[in-house]
Amino acid sequence: MTGSNDMFALIQKHDGFSGTREGPRIDDLGLYLEAARVPTPQIEDGQVLIKVAMASINPSDLHFIKGEYGQPRVKGAPAGFEAVGEVVSGKGSRAEALIGKRVAFTVQIPTSGAWAEYAVTPAAVCIPVRDDMRDEDAAGHIVNPLTALAMFDIARKAGVSSFIMTAANSQLCKLMTALGRDHGITPICIVRKESQVAHLMELGAKHVLVTGSPDFSEKVKEVIKAEKPRLLLDAVANQVSADLFTAMPTGARWVVYGKLDPEPPVIPEMGQFVFMQKHIEGFWLTRWFMDTTPEQQMQAIVEVQERFVSGKWQTEVDAVIRLEDAMSELVPALKKANAKVMLVP
Ligand SMILES: NC(=O)c1ccc[n+]([C@@H]2O[C@H](COP(=O)([O-])OP(=O)(O)OC[C@H]3O[C@@H](n4cnc5c(N)ncnc54)[C@H](OP(=O)(O)O)[C@@H]3O)[C@@H](O)[C@H]2O)c1
Repeated sequence: MTGSNDMFALIQKHDGFSGTREGPRIDDLGLYLEAARVPTPQIEDGQVLIKVAMASINPSDLHFIKGEYGQPRVKGAPAGFEAVGEVVSGKGSRAEALIGKRVAFTVQIPTSGAWAEYAVTPAAVCIPVRDDMRDEDAAGHIVNPLTALAMFDIARKAGVSSFIMTAANSQLCKLMTALGRDHGITPICIVRKESQVAHLMELGAKHVLVTGSPDFSEKVKEVIKAEKPRLLLDAVANQVSADLFTAMPTGARWVVYGKLDPEPPVIPEMGQFVFMQKHIEGFWLTRWFMDTTPEQQMQAIVEVQERFVSGKWQTEVDAVIRLEDAMSELVPALKKANAKVMLVP
């Protein structure tokens, strides 16, 4: 414990939704958050208090603090959905059994948040972490790795031989690229920076195409002709995505799981839904948790930890920023990052 009843946190300045649709880009963090000392959260039955060791920053956190995510903000509550830390207290038998354990967790209580020295969450959503798993991997154990496994499962069940990913230099796509490499399903990566090509090829991508490059459209045609990808896993959901989908063969599925670009796409050939059995659908990890059994979730968690510890996966980190420096250092770090930016108390 802190020795006092308060803690340092990055707290939200607004309630509810903003009604804007700008996407996760942030130029001035002070519009949404402030650094403050606030009361250390209190636990109720079934909950644990966690001393945060490291918190991840995901695009969903940025959508959220801007009031553009699927959940309303709570003014005065700390931001941050996901972290790793040590359980320092708990109420109820399941929660008490976790005291002293290092756990990965997502915050499920609107008045708590992971960008703080302490966070409260139900014991039921805490995942005890193997000692040999790095904090960098454990801090991002849930959102991206489980989404990577779940979406890769879509590729496996569909029996595709290749898949296209947009925003492919994201941590999530790096995990899916490695899964494609390990399971013989060809990853085709779309990025917007030439400097990211070589690293994604090293991780296992077969093709990396750069949007905005003069030969982008030509290369898309060539790669689609050669690989016949029928699955587009898309976090950008802009016109490039719609054009890729239009160029894909009969039976193509467009799975939208993010909206990094606020631009709404136009689908020029609606007849493809009639004559080419094309489909558009969404993926949200929250839904996956509702649709899978605890046994399936546990199997996925064990696989996630094994993949990180064995080196098949790695969370790539560009910067680790102290909470107290975040108001000035976070935005510049996010702007130049080619990998994750983490927060530590
Ligand atoms: N639906 C779900 O359940 C679920 C679960 C997990 C993650 N996600 C989504 O998955 C995506 C990746 O998450 P992450 O944590 O892996 O991301 P990340 O590591 O933080 O990386 C973000 C990536 O997005 C790219 N990007 C940002 N704005 C873009 C734009 N306007 N156009 C094209 N690319 C853009 C960046 O490209 P540059 O390198 O060029 O800047 C960067 O590579 C996010 O959209 C996130 O919300 C969804």
